[in-house]
Amino acid sequence: MKLRLPDSFYNPVSYSGAAIVLIAVFMFVFLFVIASASSMERAYAGIILFIVIPVFIILGLLLIPLGMWRRHRQEQKQGRKREKAFPVLDLNQPQHRTAALLFSIGTLVFLFLSALGSYEAFHFTESVPFCGQLCHKVMAPEFTAYQVSAHARVSCVACHVGAGANWYVKSKLSGLYQVYATLMNNYPRPIPTPIANLRPARETCESCHWPQKIYGKQQRREIYYLPDDSNTRWEMELLMNTGGGNPALGQKSGIHWHINPDIQVAYFAADEKRLEIPRVILTDLRTQKQTVYTSMMSGGDDAALQAGKPRIMDCIDCHNRPSHIYRDPNRFINIAMASGDIDPSLPGIKRAAVEAVMIEYETPQTAMAEIASKIRAEVSVDETRLAHSIRGAQQAYNLNIFPAMKVRWSAYPDHIGHLTTPGCFRCHDDQHVSEEGRVISRACDLCHMITAQGPSAELEYAGSQQSLPFNHLEDIGDAWRETNCSDCHHTPPM
Ligand code: HEC
Ligand code: HEC
Ligand code: HEC
Ligand code: HEC
Ligand code: HEC
Ligand code: HEC
Repeated sequence: MKLRLPDSFYNPVSYSGAAIVLIAVFMFVFLFVIASASSMERAYAGIILFIVIPVFIILGLLLIPLGMWRRHRQEQKQGRKREKAFPVLDLNQPQHRTAALLFSIGTLVFLFLSALGSYEAFHFTESVPFCGQLCHKVMAPEFTAYQVSAHARVSCVACHVGAGANWYVKSKLSGLYQVYATLMNNYPRPIPTPIANLRPARETCESCHWPQKIYGKQQRREIYYLPDDSNTRWEMELLMNTGGGNPALGQKSGIHWHINPDIQVAYFAADEKRLEIPRVILTDLRTQKQTVYTSMMSGGDDAALQAGKPRIMDCIDCHNRPSHIYRDPNRFINIAMASGDIDPSLPGIKRAAVEAVMIEYETPQTAMAEIASKIRAEVSVDETRLAHSIRGAQQAYNLNIFPAMKVRWSAYPDHIGHLTTPGCFRCHDDQHVSEEGRVISRACDLCHMITAQGPSAELEYAGSQQSLPFNHLEDIGDAWRETNCSDCHHTPPM
């Protein structure tokens, strides 16, 4: 049988359309096989397979009827052909039959492939490579920190999008703008937080960590090195009072009391970063009794307070850095020293390393060179002993500071503790007072017990169920009782 199509098909536009479709389908199959068989970088294979090639297939498919229609119009104008406005489909003619058959089979195949393709595209746009690697420069800080966090195996979308079509569409719409901003290179550096339209934690975090789950106490062991010549090693053990003192108390007491479904803690923030909290409203949802705590520092009733809407506290008000943790230099150098990446026996290395990584460099390359030369200038031991520790400091820097995006610890204050940022002390400062005179307490044993502390050689231990009085690592008198830790420990100073 000779394959004949309607005359109008034989025109340059339809020809090119058909050629484009054939080439694109061929490339799709070819790349699909290669990408499945090899460990080719998923992000790029995905964007070509499920976004670029389908665009060409659709373009080609549109060109075919466009060419036929143009040809038809031309013939009509020149009066060479029938007067009817539209082409006539006559299945008794072999050409028309072939065309109808090809068209039907083509449509079926196309529908099948596009169903498959959109399923794959859906998965691909929800994948970690798509979110984390495609825009290398923009997402590098988040992706890097994510890979060394407790959530390294949780996909980006589990926290950022969550379940349901509604949020999927929302995220893809705002994603379109983000792609535009990336292409135009006009995105903000660093990316501002808190993320205004982050999905409520109830619908994301709680799908894995449900609030009714009873959390017990957790042991934390912190290792510090003081900035003296011998890098004095100092340890602290804290027993975090995450759940109540006893599992039976669940969320009735302890740190996770704030997310007890029977109560609601809401607050007004005076700044974008939610660092300054002039007023807190506690509601007992069973009795609707409200307790309003106002900060004595802020003076209370200013206009901003009246105009604003209170924010209801959820996981993110404490765990705002569950996955993208940018540590401050003191801490990440301590960690590198404790793990041996930096040799703690090198005299003065703590002080030298912290000073070297603290400086704001323009690019990672200058940072690497400057960190090496600054440490060499400060620590006088031979190069064979020093090289390993310089590499350790550089690696630690690369995991926590990202000059291209201006991402560093000070750009993203972590709310979980109270050492380098106000954190819990935003409310727990003994300064937020209710009408009845209740304060939000700053007592050192409200949230944790200090079970051990001191220089590693002579650790002091607490008795069972007791907390040691805090012994500040440097003699600063009573300053730590009177001011917030972050007033001294925040770098650069607030
Ligand atoms: C465990 C949950 C979780 C996971 C997994 C997660 N994020 Fe986040 N992400 C957050 C939270 C919470 C914030 C901070 C929200 C705020 O402060 O308003 C955030 C903030 C961000 C920001 C804003 C800038 C910043 O550093 O805070 C970006 C960009 C981002 N995430 C990208 C990603 C990418 C890309 C991935 C996957 C590689 C990812 N996230 C995985 C929870 C998560
Ligand atoms: C898809 C499931 C999933 C989601 C969604 C999720 N997490 Fe997690 N989370 C985990 C897993 C798994 C771990 C690791 C548990 C372990 O190490 O034992 C974890 C650990 C944690 C930890 C302990 C961290 C540590 O250093 O040990 C915290 C805190 C936490 N998640 C908070 C959050 C918050 C806040 C959110 C929402 C922004 C969230 N998670 C969303 C699965 C999830
Ligand atoms: C937005 C304000 C706010 C922030 C931020 C905040 N809290 Fe609270 N917290 C409260 C209020 C209000 C109470 C109840 C005070 C009272 O007893 O009248 C409270 C009570 C507590 C209690 C005692 C619960 C009980 O009854 O046993 C603990 C423990 C606690 N908070 C831990 C923390 C920790 C840890 C952080 C930081 C990670 C933190 N809080 C951050 C507002 C806050
Ligand atoms: C008032 C602040 C606060 C709020 C609100 C809060 N947490 Fe926590 N959470 C903490 C602190 C403090 C710890 C102790 C661990 C630490 O110091 O890092 C903790 C510990 C955890 C852990 C680790 C527990 C373990 O057994 O390993 C998980 C998981 C967790 N929180 C999830 C959540 C989730 C999910 C929510 C929201 C439903 C939430 N938290 C709300 C302060 C808070
Ligand atoms: C409202 C709760 C709360 C109160 C009150 C509180 N802490 Fe903490 N503290 C925390 C939390 C939460 C962390 C853990 C932070 C983290 O997960 O990194 C912490 C961590 C610490 C650490 C370890 C610091 C670090 O990050 O290495 C020390 C030391 C400490 N607290 C001392 C104190 C002292 C001293 C007081 C009394 C003035 C006090 N705390 C009062 C919640 C509290
Ligand atoms: C008056 C200023 C001041 C205040 C307030 C203060 N500190 Fe310090 N802290 C210091 C100095 C100075 C050092 C010595 C090491 C250094 O310079 O980093 C230090 C060291 C530390 C270290 C070891 C740091 C490291 O990583 O090597 C910890 C932990 C610490 N302080 C905890 C606290 C806590 C917790 C509070 C609040 C309850 C607090 N400090 C309040 C001045 C202060």
